Amino acid sequence: MSSHSHPLRFLFLVFCLIHAPLFSSSSSQQEQPQIMLPSENNNKPTQKLTTLHFYYHDILQGEHPTVVQIIDPSNNTPNGLGTTFVMDNALTEGPDLSSKQVGRAQGIFGSASIHDRGMFMLINFAFSEEGEYKGSTLSMLGRNPVMDTVREMPIVGGTGLFRFASGYAIAQSLWSISSDEHFVVEYNVTISLP
Ligand SMILES: *[C@@H]1O[C@H](CO)[C@@H](O)[C@H](O)[C@H]1NC(C)=O
Repeated sequence: MSSHSHPLRFLFLVFCLIHAPLFSSSSSQQEQPQIMLPSENNNKPTQKLTTLHFYYHDILQGEHPTVVQIIDPSNNTPNGLGTTFVMDNALTEGPDLSSKQVGRAQGIFGSASIHDRGMFMLINFAFSEEGEYKGSTLSMLGRNPVMDTVREMPIVGGTGLFRFASGYAIAQSLWSISSDEHFVVEYNVTISLP
């Protein structure tokens, strides 16, 4: 029991004792009075849902790659188990890399699945100072089955405007506009804020 509910429950008990005759007299009719226990949710403010939409760019080769491999398992591990990268990827408003940049995706990801192409993702989305979510961040931590076109990963927290955020990201690979050097993923992020 949390400490703040304790005095409430005590007051409720006192209330019941004081009004006991009242309750028993009304029970002489057909229906028993309903006694509502104080619920911890009664005073909870309604949660606000926010959706974010942006495009994520893995630049894997060329003059300015934004993804760097940091672990290269020496032997042929199943499905590349252990292969790990660090990224600092642009997030843009539209699918084109030259469209307005709204932030960066900074973090690590790697192969963590023996039986299929499953990756772990640990990404901080840092939103640009000049954008709508100025200087705020969201953290995503999840499993990414990269061979599926659409994946879901949890949003586990945030800072600034996104303090106490929780939610999920839907990521969709845009194969039609991606290449070996440049991979584009569309992100729809839904978060609930207190
Ligand atoms: C993301 O949301 C847009 C509309 O906001 C929708 O057109 C698109 O299909 C969604 N993508 C996914 C993968 O949910």
